[in-house]
Amino acid sequence: MSRSFDRRDFVKTTAAASLGLALPRSAHGRAPAVITRSARPVVVSSGNGYRYRHDGEITCVETVFQEMTGGTDILDSVLAGVKINELDPGDSSVGYGGLPNGDGVVQLDASCMHGPMKRAGSVACLEGVRTPSLVARAVMHETDHHLLVGPDAQRFARNMGFEIEDDLNSDHSRQRWLEWRRRIDPSRWPGEDDPDRIGYLSGMEMVADGLIDPEHYWGTINCNAVNQDGELAGCTTTSGLAWKIPGRVGDSPILGAGLYVDGEVGAAGSTGRGEANLFNLTSYLVVENLRRGMSPTDAGMEGLRRIRDNTIEPRLLNDEGEPNFNVRFYVVNAAGDYAGVTLRGGGQYAVCTENGPEFVDFEALL
Ligand code: GLY
Repeated sequence: MSRSFDRRDFVKTTAAASLGLALPRSAHGRAPAVITRSARPVVVSSGNGYRYRHDGEITCVETVFQEMTGGTDILDSVLAGVKINELDPGDSSVGYGGLPNGDGVVQLDASCMHGPMKRAGSVACLEGVRTPSLVARAVMHETDHHLLVGPDAQRFARNMGFEIEDDLNSDHSRQRWLEWRRRIDPSRWPGEDDPDRIGYLSGMEMVADGLIDPEHYWGTINCNAVNQDGELAGCTTTSGLAWKIPGRVGDSPILGAGLYVDGEVGAAGSTGRGEANLFNLTSYLVVENLRRGMSPTDAGMEGLRRIRDNTIEPRLLNDEGEPNFNVRFYVVNAAGDYAGVTLRGGGQYAVCTENGPEFVDFEALL
C-alpha cells in the first residue's frame, strides 16, 4: 500500500462507498445504472497489475479499487488502472515500451467490455498510440462497431484526438529486439525449417538467459472488477507475443478469447499463449461456466482443461504429452468471488479488496 493511500484511507473509502455515501459518476454523462444488487467489491488482474506505478504512487489494482469504490464508472475505473501499465516502459508486455514484432515495430491489441451497458470495443495491430485500451473504449462509445484494426484503427485514434507517435519502443524493448535479431540466423528467413520455431526458440533462450521476463514474452495485462453494486467490467491490453509476425493478432482484442464480461454473471480474461484462446474462445467458455453455477476456480479450470484437450500438435507438447506453453485466467463473478488459475504451476496474480492489494498464488491444472 502506498504512502499517499494507506490502508485506513482504503477502508474508509470502501466503507463510504458501500454505505452509498459516494455519488456515482456515470461514463460520458450517461445516467448511472439502476442498482439492483450488492457484491463484495474486488479487482483481479495479472501480476503486473500490482507491480508498476508509472509516475504515480499506486498500482493498477489499487487505482481501480479506489476509483470504483469512489463512484467512478466501473469500466472507466478499470481503464484508469491498466493505463498505468500501458504508460510505464518498465512493463514491456503492454503499451509504450512493449516488446515489438519481428520487424521491430510495437503493435498493440486491446479490448474492453462494460457489463451494465452491455457494450464492448477493441483495437488490433494498432501502432503509435500508447494507450490502446482507451482507443478500444472510444470504439465502444463512438462507433457502432466492436473492432478496428491496423492503420485504420490508428486513423480512427487520430480522429478521436489521440497523440500518434512514430515509435513506441523504449530503449529496453529496442535493445531486446536487437538481441533477438542477433540470435536468429537471418539467412534462414525463410529457411527449410519452420522459421517461426527458430524465432520462438531464440525468444525462449532469452527468457532462460534472464533477458526477458517470462510474463512479458506473451505480454498482456488483464484486469476485471466488480463494484459494491455488482457492476462488472474488464479490459485486456497487450503488445502481444514478442517478435510476432507483423500483423499477427492475439486473443486480447477478440471478445470471448482474451476477455469476456457478462454484466449479470461475471468476467474472465487471460494472459499467455493467445492462440490457445483464439482456438477455444476460452474466456467466453469460463463465463458460461459461471453462468451454469460453477465457482470461479472450477469455471477457470474447465477452461484450462478444454485448452489441454485441444492441444494435440507435437510441437506444442512436452515430453509428458502436456501443453508446453502457459495460459492463465483471472475470473470474478457478480457476487465478488474470484480466482486465478494457470495451466502450468507457479506464479501469483494480483487482487485488491477492502483489505488492500495483495499477490495470491494461482491454482494450477498441471
Ligand atoms: N495473450 C497475448 C497474446 O497472445 O498476444
